[in-house]
Amino acid sequence: MFLEKVVSFCYKYELVFLISLSMLILSCEGEVDPEPTGVYTLDAPSYFGPFEVPEENITTHEGVRLGRALFYDTRLSGDNSMSCGSCHQQQFAFTDGKQFSTGITGTPGTFNAMSLQNLLWDSRFFWDGRSTSLEDQALQPIEDSIELHQSLEATVEKLSADPDYPCLFEDAFGDEEITAERIAKAIGQFERTLISKDSRFDKYLRNEGTLTTLELEGYQLFSTHPNPRNGIRGANCADCHLGPRTSGSNVNFQGFHNNGLDGVGELRSGLEQVTGDDQDYGKFKAPTLRNIALTAPYMHDGRFQTLEEVLDHYNEHIQYSETLDILITEASNNTERNPGEVNLGLTEEEKTALLAFLETLTDESFLTNPEFSDPNP
Ligand code: HEC
Ligand code: HEC
Repeated sequence: MFLEKVVSFCYKYELVFLISLSMLILSCEGEVDPEPTGVYTLDAPSYFGPFEVPEENITTHEGVRLGRALFYDTRLSGDNSMSCGSCHQQQFAFTDGKQFSTGITGTPGTFNAMSLQNLLWDSRFFWDGRSTSLEDQALQPIEDSIELHQSLEATVEKLSADPDYPCLFEDAFGDEEITAERIAKAIGQFERTLISKDSRFDKYLRNEGTLTTLELEGYQLFSTHPNPRNGIRGANCADCHLGPRTSGSNVNFQGFHNNGLDGVGELRSGLEQVTGDDQDYGKFKAPTLRNIALTAPYMHDGRFQTLEEVLDHYNEHIQYSETLDILITEASNNTERNPGEVNLGLTEEEKTALLAFLETLTDESFLTNPEFSDPNP
C-alpha cells in the first residue's frame, strides 16, 4: 500500500514536470507564452505631447524583452564585465553617479553619463547631438574603445553561442538570425519604454496630488521669464527646459544651447562638432530635469556636485562668450544692470523654492519599476 502511494506520487510529479518542461519549450517557440506578446502600448500622459515610433521598428513586447536582456548583458563588452546598465543605472535614473564614466579599460571618458528617460520625444542624442536615432546610438557604446570596446562581429558571435538568444530574436524579429541591426532595434525598443510620468509634479498636473506653497512658488519661478519693469520675477528655466517634460526642444537643433558654463577660450565645441557652424560653438543638449535630484553630478562634464551649485551657476556665475544664449543674456530680475553683466538676480529664498520644485520631479515608481531592472540580476 505504502509503496504504491509513493509510486503514484512520483508518477504524478513526473507528469507535472514533463508538462511544465514542454510548456517551457513551447513558450520559447512563442506558441504558449505566459508573457504578453504583440504591440507594446507606450503609455504616456497627453501633456507630454505627441511622439513617433519609427515605422521600421515598432515597439513589441517581444522586442522590449530582448532589448532589456541586451541592455543588461555584459557580453556586449570586450571582457564581459560591463553592460549599458553599468553606466546607466536605474536607481540614478539611468546615470552612474560619476563625473566621467569609465569603460572596461578603466580609462575615463570626457562626458558625464546622460540619464535615459522620456527619450521617445527626442530626435537627437548625446550631449553634442551627433546621433539621430536610438537605433543609431545603441551600437556606438559597444564599439567605443573606452566604453564597451567590442566589435559588432564579436558581439553577434557571442550572443549566437548563447542557448537562449536565438529564440528571443526569433520571437522579436521572426527568425533566429542575430545581427547588429537587430541588437540596436531591440535596445531602442526597450529604451522607448523608459517613461517617467509619475512624479509628484505629474500627480499635481493630473489633479491627483498637491504641491506645497514653496514647491508651487518654485514652479512659478521655473516657468517664468523675468520682466522686472513689470514686477514679474522669474528664473526662466522653462525657456530651455520646456513644458512638463522639462527637456529641450526636439525640433532639429533647437534644443541645444550655450548656457554659460565657460567663457571664451575654455568653451568646448559641442554642437559645432556636428554642424560645422561657428554659431553652434559651445552648445549642448538641454537635458530633461526629471529625477534631477538623483542624477548628480551635473552638466556635460559633471562639474557641479549639487543642485545648489547649478542654481548658483545660473544665478551668478554665467560666463560670457559669443554664442551665450540670448534667453540667458536677456534674463534678469534686476532693473539696474551694468552693460554686459549677466545676473539672474534671484534671492536665496527664491533659490530654495526652485530647489523644492526640482525635487518634485523625482519619480520613485520609475526608479523602482521592475520592468526596467536587470532581468537576470
Ligand atoms: C562607459 C559608460 C557607458 C556605457 C557602457 C554606456 N553608456 Fe550610454 N552614455 C554614456 C555617456 C558618458 C553618455 C554621453 C556621451 C556623449 O554625449 O558623448 C551616454 C549617452 C547615452 C545616450 C544618449 C542620451 C541622450 O539623452 O541623448 C543613450 C541613449 C545611451 N547612452 C544609451 C546607451 C546604451 C544603449 C548602451 C549600451 C549599448 C550604453 N549607453 C552604454 C556612458 C555609457
Ligand atoms: C538657455 C537655455 C537654458 C536655460 C535658460 C536653463 N538651462 Fe539648464 N541646461 C541647459 C543646457 C544646454 C544644459 C546642458 C549644458 C551642458 O552640460 O553643457 C543644461 C543643464 C542643466 C542641468 C544639468 C542637467 C544634467 O543632467 O546634468 C540642470 C540641473 C539645469 N540645467 C537646470 C536649470 C535650471 C534650474 C534653470 C533655471 C534657473 C535652467 N537650467 C535654465 C540650458 C538651459
